[in-house]
Amino acid sequence: MDRVIGSRIMLDDYDDLYAMEFMDCISDLLELEGVQRLSEYFQHCSTTRLQHSINVAYYNYRICKFLHFDYKSAARAGLLHDLFYYDWTTEKTPERHTFYHPKEALKNALEMTDINAIEADAIAKHMWPMCFGIPKYKESYVITLTDKYCAVMEVCQQLKFRIKSHFN
Ligand SMILES: [Fe+2]
Ligand SMILES: [Fe+2]
Repeated sequence: MDRVIGSRIMLDDYDDLYAMEFMDCISDLLELEGVQRLSEYFQHCSTTRLQHSINVAYYNYRICKFLHFDYKSAARAGLLHDLFYYDWTTEKTPERHTFYHPKEALKNALEMTDINAIEADAIAKHMWPMCFGIPKYKESYVITLTDKYCAVMEVCQQLKFRIKSHFN
């Protein structure tokens, strides 16, 4: 892991206060095998699910810190919001992936670590409005935006690579 999509900040830069505080929020979770397994799956184009989760976690952290929300819970929820282990582009799920995977992520997260109410709500509702129920906390609304923002950035990054390699 070096940086977050769209950001110049290196996450291992000990002189950067944002990077250090962000890593402090999520470092225990990052060590979990279940979180590291996310690197085995692609989420959007060539972005792994782990990198996507770090991207979302970081923007959750920055926005919630700026707005004086609970940035630690927001960062942790961001890292765990897509904690599922299947290829969503090919595998069949009991219900539509959009509705199914937030529940699966919350179930896996609860099995793996302690989750507070804000984190649980943000994970379960991150697909809002394409999910059941309305977000309860302001941090949950933030993740609905950062998740979509990161998805768009990740797809655009891939398009940029393809266009560049096509014309070079
Ligand atoms: Fe998701
Ligand atoms: Fe996501």
